[in-house]
Amino acid sequence: MNRDEARERIHELRELIRYNDWLYYVKDAPEISDAEYDGVFKELQALEEAHPELASPDSPTQRVGGQPAERFAPVEHLAPMLSLDSDASAEAVARFDERLRKALPDERVSFVAEPKLDGLSVELVYEDGVLTRASTRGDGRQGEGITENVKTIRSVPLKLRTDGAAAPQTLAIRGEIVLRVDGFEALNERLMAEGKEPFANPRNAAAGSLRQLDPTISASRPLEAYAYDVLFASSLPVRTQWETLELLRAWGFRVSEQIERATTLDELAAYHAGIMEQRDDLPFEIDGVVIKLDDLPARDEVGTTSRHPRWAFAWKFPPRAELTRILSIIPSVGRTGVVTPVAIMRPVEIGGVTVSRATLHNREEVARKDVREGDMVRVQRAGDVIPQVVERVEEEGHERGEEFRMPAECPSCGTELEERGPFTVCPNSFGCPAQLVGRIQHFGSRQALDIEGLGEETAKLLVEQEFVHRVPDLFELTADQLTELEGFAELSANNLVSAIDRARSTELARFLHGLGIPEVGVAVARDLARAFGTMEALRTADEETLVQVDGVGPIMAGRINEFFAEPHNAANLDRLLSYMRGLTAPERPAEGGALDGKTFVFTGGLESMSRGDAKKRVEALGAKATGSVSKKTDFVVAGEDPGSKLDKAESLGLAVLDEAGFLALLAEWEGE
Ligand code: IVH
Repeated sequence: MNRDEARERIHELRELIRYNDWLYYVKDAPEISDAEYDGVFKELQALEEAHPELASPDSPTQRVGGQPAERFAPVEHLAPMLSLDSDASAEAVARFDERLRKALPDERVSFVAEPKLDGLSVELVYEDGVLTRASTRGDGRQGEGITENVKTIRSVPLKLRTDGAAAPQTLAIRGEIVLRVDGFEALNERLMAEGKEPFANPRNAAAGSLRQLDPTISASRPLEAYAYDVLFASSLPVRTQWETLELLRAWGFRVSEQIERATTLDELAAYHAGIMEQRDDLPFEIDGVVIKLDDLPARDEVGTTSRHPRWAFAWKFPPRAELTRILSIIPSVGRTGVVTPVAIMRPVEIGGVTVSRATLHNREEVARKDVREGDMVRVQRAGDVIPQVVERVEEEGHERGEEFRMPAECPSCGTELEERGPFTVCPNSFGCPAQLVGRIQHFGSRQALDIEGLGEETAKLLVEQEFVHRVPDLFELTADQLTELEGFAELSANNLVSAIDRARSTELARFLHGLGIPEVGVAVARDLARAFGTMEALRTADEETLVQVDGVGPIMAGRINEFFAEPHNAANLDRLLSYMRGLTAPERPAEGGALDGKTFVFTGGLESMSRGDAKKRVEALGAKATGSVSKKTDFVVAGEDPGSKLDKAESLGLAVLDEAGFLALLAEWEGE
């Protein structure tokens, strides 16, 4: 590469990194994986090193990150708050140890091991021993000022204790704010009782609680702070991490009790295993252990990379899994008539969330996993959210139940079921109550008409009471009728009626998605809405015209035409349209999707769709599909002949879905 080419490429890379920093740090919506980002970053670093004359103070390599969001006042940290290099494998820890032993004489390589608390990292600044400022990590260089919120946390000393050690003039402490698991559960119960969304895990709950503009809300949440590092001190009377932790304790901070000194890899492994065993008994969530060089001057000698210290390493735990027993396997009929076997399990808590049911996808999947009623199974939460039955656990002397059989007749309407490939389907599309419940729910779901208060329970009641025979009947419901339903008072009845009324003005794409046309998910609905602009143009389009739309193939075009040609559908649609106040064609991307902020990697071929389509579908739910696996990847979907990405995913302990699992979850997410 000559100099002009290098200049151009450097410019391009800097722009790319700036853009992605902005997406990640300001918009909270990254588009590329950490690994891809790291690749771009390293390329830029290498080019700048090769062409020092092209270096520039405004290059992203010259700082740790990007700009913080603007809700709270930005605060510059007294020293960069770096993040930790991490991995779930013992080999990676061995390499970390080896690197240090190459850089330092053996006797200086010994460690302090600590639990890795799963909360929110903060900087606490003390001037002459008094807390003057607290901020979130932000981009590592600048965070958001959350002083008032942090002050409400009782385990944060407002003034340092100085009977054991004097307070430096300026001191910046780094620590973690966590929400206790019991407090998390109580908080979620309270939120749900108030009709609000619960938090997915204690970390989100801690972050959400701290980033409240109103500090009285933070104060009402059971937050706790743990200190683990001195980020900056105008003077510091210690030379090891161990002494640092003692000093922090002396100043009045809470410090993990489970800290230990270790020198060899064996000792580190024993610590890791020991903490993993205690994991469930600890009052707060941890997601691994942190290993730090004890010798503080040695830390300065080994230094940092642009983002991680070379003197510390996070040894992560594999995903949470628990054992429980399958109480029953019940066939559940969805809105499209597909009957899904669902495992009902003895409730078990996995990482702060109680799990009692998990989809088993279809009868082939049940056979493949060979699970039956009464079996002990290992259940894990994929990507921190969806419970999955991982495998059956063999039990000696346990007498097993009968093999699961799909019923011959629909459990909801009694119609004889049909087998279509691996799926079992109830063909009674317009007479089956379970399908109607599913359709009502889907019509009102967040990505369709977004009718608050129209969840599964309500949909069931409406169908049971025969208030709704067809989806359009929703628009005829009166508050008087609704008050007859169990759990409905005047206020909730009025609220639902007005929510339904508000839904009469909506976007064409949402309406289209809400119809539940086979094969037409959120993404396709959006493409169709954009291409045709009106319902009339779409419903009268022939297959040749339909396949012109990007993402619509001949099979899908056929299904769309069939749908509109079916007399029940046509009549329902006419009625629905008579209630609508006009439908607008949208331009903006999906928001508030079921997979907001999640990252997917696809590896290997999928049978049922192209990888491009798979990507589109998860993107329509708010997720990102990227090319390489990193710690930040939430889901890896492994098809036929998966490549090394699968190995990488396994070594990182990530959630891996097979095609059947992916399809079933997709159906759930899209229908949510
Ligand atoms: S030390 C530069 N110690 O893990 C190293 N971090 O990236 C400073 N964390 O953002 C971090 N427990 O929020 C350290 N005992 C512990 C920790 C810990 C949790 C968090 C921290 C950091 C993340 C890893």
